[in-house]
This record gives sequence, structure tokens and C-alpha cells, in this order.
Amino acid sequence: MRSLLFVPADAAKKLDKAMTSGADALIVDLEDSIPAPGKADARLSAAAFIRDAVTATHRPRLLVRINGFATGLADADLDTVVPARPDAIMLPKAEGGADVVRADAKLSAREAMAALPDGCIRIVAIATETATALFLAGTYCGASERLAALTWGAEDLSAELGAEANRDGDGRFLDPYRLARALCLAGAAAARVQAIDTVTVDFRNAAALRRETEEARRDGFTGKMAIHPAQVPIINEVFTPSAAAVAQARAVVAAFEANPGKGTVGIDGVMYDRPHLERARQVLARAQA
Ligand code: COA
Ligand code: MG
Repeated sequence: MRSLLFVPADAAKKLDKAMTSGADALIVDLEDSIPAPGKADARLSAAAFIRDAVTATHRPRLLVRINGFATGLADADLDTVVPARPDAIMLPKAEGGADVVRADAKLSAREAMAALPDGCIRIVAIATETATALFLAGTYCGASERLAALTWGAEDLSAELGAEANRDGDGRFLDPYRLARALCLAGAAAARVQAIDTVTVDFRNAAALRRETEEARRDGFTGKMAIHPAQVPIINEVFTPSAAAVAQARAVVAAFEANPGKGTVGIDGVMYDRPHLERARQVLARAQA
């Protein structure tokens, strides 16, 4: 999943528009974009939308962001949306692998009641939204086969830390959020799942989005969340391996295949070893997807 577009669950027009936005995934939101009095209606809208959208032939992956466990709303969210069979739920304010285990159990029970295959609904966790969560970012490995990705957020974290800002005057994340970003990246790599970059809230600023997306790709993220359809093409472009990157990756794989049993090869005067081969294979896998 290169691009994951947030859509408030109570916004019928945006939900329809999002289906043809080109996003690899939609995140139908029941959490921060839905005020408390609207939660119950939003759940019903989300379920109705998913039930219909899953039948479309060429469709994005369909995720539902439920409310966090601490709100007491998560069980009712799952009761309503699981029978519609979204591809995944997004778990906000996740505090480590233990919360993923908890979400897994809740999903298993509801999949059984809805006669869905056990494990069919995956989990994407937002791993850095509380201070506690930062210290647990390394605990996702082995939590559940359902875990598909980790992502991170700076807004809730800055509120919890009591910060005045999370970005500097040039729009760059300040230290506590750069730490959260790095912990998400390392936590995802340790758990062998996809790392997805957070949203760029300044949605009219295409240059800032491109810069952040390119920095994310450089560091190892393979996708990014969006809040506006205009952000989707830029994110897709940056996370689609370029022709040059694919050619380079093919050359690395071919050089190792031509030298079986060798740990290092030289191409055009540059040394490549096993980690380069691993990276080249990842690029080719993403190009194929
Ligand atoms: N998904 C689908 N369509 C969207 C969209 C989204 N996330 N955001 C905007 N659009 C649509 C608008 O409805 C509008 O459609 P129209 O041309 O048919 O009227 C078009 O794209 C242009 O929208 P624009 O006027 O530029 O923005 P806006 O002021 O209507 O909306 C936001 C701005 C931020 C309210 C909106 O982008 C949004 O709701 N984003 C998601 C918020 C969210 O889910 N937050 C939680 C996670 S952080
Ligand atoms: Mg939030």
C-alpha cells in the first residue's frame, strides 16, 4: 500500500470520491474526524459503505480506523464494522504488541460470529500516539499474523507531551516526533511489516508533501497516509520504483545470479553485498505490486 487516504465515515460524498482517487487504500475514519455525538451513526455509515465497496471490481483496500481501546468505543465499532468485512482495521493509540494481541482476539470472536474466515481482517497499528507507546514500539514482533503495518502520528503525541508545537518554522518535525518516526520505522522492520509514514496536514502544500514523502522513502517507509485526494498522486509516484531504480535492482540481482555462492559482486566499480541484494529484491517486489 503506497497511499492510504483518510475519509471521515460520516462524509458520504467524500467516500464515493475516494473510491476513484487512485489511493491504494482508504481509511474510513471513526476516530478523530467524528465528534462524539456522531459516533453511532458514523459506524453504521462505515459498515454500509464497506459492505457495498468490497464488491467493486477494481477497488482500493478498505480499512476502518476504530476508536482506541481507552475510549470504550472500540467494541461497538468492531461489532458494527466487522460483519461488513473490511480488509483491515486501523488501531489508533496502540501501546505495543499486547494491544495487537487484544485486537486480534476481538476480531477473532467477531469473525466467528459473522461466519468469516478466521484472520481475514488485518491490523494496521498507529504505534506512537502516546508516551507509553514510544517505549513499546519494539514489541510488535510476533504479536499477530494479522499485523500488516505500523504507522505513526504526531498530533496526539504532541498533546500528550504537552508540547506547543511539533514542527519548526520550516515545517520540519521537531526531535520528539523524529524519534517517534524512527521508532515506528525500526519497530516495523523488527516485526517484518510495512512502515507507513504519517500524514502531511498542510494539504495545499504539494512541495512539502513531496519532500516528506521522498524523505520517508529514503529512510525505508514504503507508504504514506493522506488526508486529501490531491495528495494521492504524489505519494503513489514517489513510492513507485522508478525505471532507473528497477534497472539498477535487476542488475544487482543478475550479478549475484551470475556469481552463485559469492557474497559480494562488483558492478560498474561499486561493491554490492548481501544487504544490497535484499534491498534490490524489495525494490523489484514493490515494482511488481
Ligand atoms: N476523501 C475524499 N474526498 C475528499 C477528501 C477526502 N479525504 N478531502 C476532500 N475531498 C473532496 C471534497 O469533498 C471536494 O469534493 P468536490 O470537489 O466534489 O466538492 C474535493 O475533494 C476538494 O476538496 P477541498 O475543497 O479541497 O477540501 P475540503 O475543504 O472540502 O476538505 C478536509 C478539507 C481536510 C476537511 C478534507 O480533506 C478531509 O475531510 N480530510 C480527511 C480528514 C480526516 O479523515 N482526518 C482524520 C485523519 S488525520
Ligand atoms: Mg489521532
